[in-house]
Amino acid sequence: MEVIIESDDAACGVTVADVFDRAVRSGARVLGLATGSSPLSVYRELIRRHREEGLSFAAAQAFLLDEYVGLPKGHPQSYAHVIRTEFTDHVDVDPARVQGPDGWADDVFAAADRYDAMLRDEGPVDVQLLGIGVNGHIGFNEPGSSLGSRTRVTTLTEQTRRDNARFFDGIDEVPRHVITQGLGTISSARHLVLIATGGHKAEAVAAAVEGPLTASCPASVLQLHPHVTVVVDEAAAARLTNADFYRYARENRPR
Ligand code: GLP
Repeated sequence: MEVIIESDDAACGVTVADVFDRAVRSGARVLGLATGSSPLSVYRELIRRHREEGLSFAAAQAFLLDEYVGLPKGHPQSYAHVIRTEFTDHVDVDPARVQGPDGWADDVFAAADRYDAMLRDEGPVDVQLLGIGVNGHIGFNEPGSSLGSRTRVTTLTEQTRRDNARFFDGIDEVPRHVITQGLGTISSARHLVLIATGGHKAEAVAAAVEGPLTASCPASVLQLHPHVTVVVDEAAAARLTNADFYRYARENRPR
């Protein structure tokens, strides 16, 4: 695992965009996208590079991590909608090749299984972008999620509903259920890139990177993966015991 500490959110966005830029220009075709506020600086930078530096996503396809269950179709906070407005509408990826779990299906349980099968068939994801919840969730895998879990319908904690209420007209509007890629599904990607910014993420980042491997911190599953990059700003790095070593290792990368 490589841990990169940057000064602020914008610098984190550039560093993560570098990872996607390099991957796409060297032939990566299957991208894993995340929603929430953490990836926005990445998308802003990728859109800029698309417009100004010829970075093309025309050959790419993209898969979302998760989706709410039960929102009205086209709801501005559905992740299918958010990813379009924040990223994919502004680059040249084929909209038909941007897919997410179907939170509107009559049978959402079957829809979750179908999505997992699609990821197995069309994957693996080359580069998967991840945020992290303050309780250590990735995707919508809340504490207690099996480290080997697959895409499924699951229930949000009240804390996550409160955290996400800022995107809605109050907590009552936030769905209780979601479809999320499981921790095992996410771990099938070739390269996992987690971005976290702000002091409110410091504890979750430290637990994920340096804490025990445990379902109580779902993001600790990253410790099992062979290729992980964690990009954090100074505030989110504040609880990392080995921060000085991560800086030293970055300055002294083997060539
Ligand atoms: C959300 C999403 C996650 C996201 C996380 C953090 O609920 N399902 O994919 O990483 O919570 O969100 P934010 O980046 O807005 O802090």
